[in-house]
Amino acid sequence: MISFILNDREYATGLPPGAVTLDLLREEAGLTGTREGCREGDCGACTVLLGTPLQQGIEYRAVNSCILPVAELHGRHLVTIEGVNPEEGLSPLQQVIVDEGASQCGFCTPGIIMSLTAYLLGTVDPDDLRAADSLAGNICRCTGYVSISKSAKTVSGIAGHSPAECCTSREHLEWLVEKEILPPYFLGVETMLHAMDAVESEAVVSGKTVTVAGGTDLFAAEAEDLRNTDLRFLSRKTGMNGITILENRVLIGAGATVRDIIDSGVFCNSGNLERSLQLVASPQVRNRATVGGNIVNASPIGDLTIIFLALDARLRILNGSDAREVQLKDFFRGYKLLDLSPGELLESIVYKELDSATFINFEKVAMRKHLDIASVNSAAAFSVSGGRIEKADISAGGVAPVPLYLERTSAALRGMDITTDTAQLAVRTARSEVSPIDDVRGSAEYKKLLLGKLVAAHFVELFPGQINAGELL
Ligand SMILES: Cc1cc2nc3c(=O)[nH]c(=O)nc-3n(C[C@H](O)[C@H](O)[C@H](O)COP(=O)(O)OP(=O)(O)OC[C@H]3O[C@@H](n4cnc5c(N)ncnc54)[C@H](O)[C@@H]3O)c2cc1C
Ligand code: FES
Ligand code: FES
Repeated sequence: MISFILNDREYATGLPPGAVTLDLLREEAGLTGTREGCREGDCGACTVLLGTPLQQGIEYRAVNSCILPVAELHGRHLVTIEGVNPEEGLSPLQQVIVDEGASQCGFCTPGIIMSLTAYLLGTVDPDDLRAADSLAGNICRCTGYVSISKSAKTVSGIAGHSPAECCTSREHLEWLVEKEILPPYFLGVETMLHAMDAVESEAVVSGKTVTVAGGTDLFAAEAEDLRNTDLRFLSRKTGMNGITILENRVLIGAGATVRDIIDSGVFCNSGNLERSLQLVASPQVRNRATVGGNIVNASPIGDLTIIFLALDARLRILNGSDAREVQLKDFFRGYKLLDLSPGELLESIVYKELDSATFINFEKVAMRKHLDIASVNSAAAFSVSGGRIEKADISAGGVAPVPLYLERTSAALRGMDITTDTAQLAVRTARSEVSPIDDVRGSAEYKKLLLGKLVAAHFVELFPGQINAGELL
């Protein structure tokens, strides 16, 4: 049985571990406030909160219940829109939506309330901009976003600043309860979770077992097939999501999510990487999507994979108690073909910490700014000394069957002065090094052109004083 706290009470389900939480809520628990839209993690109508007990307090994150397997609920707190309703009337968040006219048909509204609640649970100093950003994964088809984003801004004003220092502390919860943003039962959930004694059972791993990390790729694509498949859940494996820096090497556990990486600050002095991660997918997806899943999924346009290729990262791979290492650029052998045997697990990603002489930049072109995968993306890292490139690592996505390390372009730049001519050489070499195909995201010719522009953009962004952007672009 999978046991957890559903809103204010203990709940156990006999559904298979691979059934999705949205179905549990609507079909088994009769909680139909959580809406079913796309079932692909795209629209946010099914947003719920997942509370994970920490050593002290509970960390709540907004997640899409349509791509969340029920196994992930075990020993955790699941909160739906019914779980944030006050006993009478509307909560302040619900009232703001009404006052701002931010709901017409109301289909998206429960998801929006849950994302705003998650935002307030996850911050002690709410601000307008970040409150509006927290709704990047919630699509509304009829109201229009001006009133919705005005509501988000009003919400941060209503909440004010929490007296707590940390958003998982009890003081922070008490503050939200006092503001009537959360019902009082939230204050007893930690004790209820500790009393549950939710023992983990290690999955039996067979040749047919599918490994699930965040499940955002797997469950968006094949939730029906996974419902009755043997699954191994990595989120339950300890030691896979740490992020540490040791002797100038950064080690990121394969189970670390995009949100974990942003929160760790490990990219804060790494060019535009932190900002770029904030544009990956949506808050709900970033809360679950792992770096290991991004790499092993082997999508030619995986944003994290493209970034780690430019960081010249190495992978540590486990097979039982044996471990081996492989260079990320050698990991991809063909379309969805990897240097990874059945039973092997990607444990961590390691790269050299950036020093003050290394410059890195990531560029992505997609059909829309938020919630979209790239048509073409690229990252570039340059180690520079005295105006000369000592080492270059450039990667490109969407231009080959695999996420590509641009060997020839990277090699051609070694020892070159940083000038517009050098940037033009990089653009020409990159274009000649790839053979994209026509697909829904663009023609081969368009993608080649785009890659050239992205390579040029790396130089313009990183070396504005040395490059003549007008000549280059
Ligand atoms: C709406 C939406 C928007 C998205 N937008 C973006 C985007 O903007 N940019 C982007 O790059 N991606 C995007 N994605 C794709 C996805 O979120 C990422 O690729 C994510 O990083 C996958 O990680 P995961 O943990 O969810 O992988 P999972 O779905 O759990 O797993 C993916 C694959 O990797 C395998 N696997 C996972 N971890 C390991 C491991 N440690 N060892 C061995 N095998 C493993 C699994 O078996 C599976 O085959 C989006 C997805 C959705 C649903
Ligand atoms: S139903 Fe659209 S994100 Fe879940
Ligand atoms: S109010 Fe109708 S979809 Fe948002």
